[in-house]
Amino acid sequence: MVKAVVLGAAGGIGQPLSLLLKASPLVDELGLYDVVNTPGVAADLSHISSRAKVSGFLPKDDGLKNALTGADVVVIPAGIPRKPGMTRDDLFKVNAGIVQTLVKGIADFAPKAFVLIISNPVNSTVPIAAEVLKKAGVFDPKRLFGVTTLDVVRAETFVQEYSGQADPSQTFIPVVGGHSGETIVPLFSKAKPSFQIPGDKYDALVNRVQFGGDEVVKAKEGAGSATLSMAYAGFRFAESVIKAQKGEKNILEPTYVYLPGVSGGDAIAKETGVEYFSVPVELGANGAEKAVNILEGVTDQEKKLLEAAIKGLKGNIEKGIDFVNNPP
Ligand code: NAD
Ligand code: LMR
Repeated sequence: MVKAVVLGAAGGIGQPLSLLLKASPLVDELGLYDVVNTPGVAADLSHISSRAKVSGFLPKDDGLKNALTGADVVVIPAGIPRKPGMTRDDLFKVNAGIVQTLVKGIADFAPKAFVLIISNPVNSTVPIAAEVLKKAGVFDPKRLFGVTTLDVVRAETFVQEYSGQADPSQTFIPVVGGHSGETIVPLFSKAKPSFQIPGDKYDALVNRVQFGGDEVVKAKEGAGSATLSMAYAGFRFAESVIKAQKGEKNILEPTYVYLPGVSGGDAIAKETGVEYFSVPVELGANGAEKAVNILEGVTDQEKKLLEAAIKGLKGNIEKGIDFVNNPP
């Protein structure tokens, strides 16, 4: 029996993500928590004739506790999205506190759940979550994931004309680093099956993957950021975590993890000089079983991208850790 919970379930990502989870045969119970509107969202989804039993919760009447109790997988898209002109880091002020509060709830009511963080800035909110779980004495790095799947999905999509795949999702493209601008590093040289990108197209392609989020923010003209593609990506990652938990093998997903806590991650942390980094991770019954070091043998262009990413990540990570340990 799998219970999935969405925190921020009434939002732009939360609603379509909850729909996908409700439609999934892998989910038996679905808990929807938000500060508004979850009774309506839950009532609506509950009419769908799939197996998951849906319940909606608000903060009143111990809603967070009741939503989280018994959870196997908790996905967090709670928090404000960007408007044109903002960086993801501009969301820190509001979203850091939201993530901190919700993860405290997870520490209390679902300490063994897999925690999937979507709320931005992911580069900082994942370290925040880790520090909260550490303080509560329940941190298991194998169970905490920053969801960077949208970067992978974008990379698969944007290279289709070069990969030649009728179904772009069949190309595996590791996107590593973090989830904002230059910290996002697509490693096209490690794509499988491999393909060539014309030299004069490379920079623009990298830039499009790194700043794909801005493309959507601009197109939505103040009405928010990516929601539907993010719901697809968030569901794809959650589905992988659930399948692995159920015993399926050979599931590899790039995700932003605390490297020293994942087998094989220590070497990557030493090589990069950062403890949080997105790399392809082998998923298993207990979560992140192994971090795969994909950084060996990258091209010189990719090495430069990695250097810039690591520089940006350091400050983002420190900011998150500091928020919990030296409250403002
Ligand atoms: P949204 O404003 O449409 O929805 C956010 C929801 O969170 C709202 O329903 C709101 O009521 C809820 N919320 C706020 N405070 C809460 C709390 N304390 N507890 C529970 N719920 C709370 O925003 P959105 O478009 O769904 O985006 C959500 C977040 O996801 C943003 O931070 C955005 O930047 C981020 N995001 C991340 C990625 C990624 O790739 N990781 C992609 C897209 C968006
Ligand atoms: C994205 O990559 O689309 C999200 O992180 C949302 C954003 O702010 O761009």
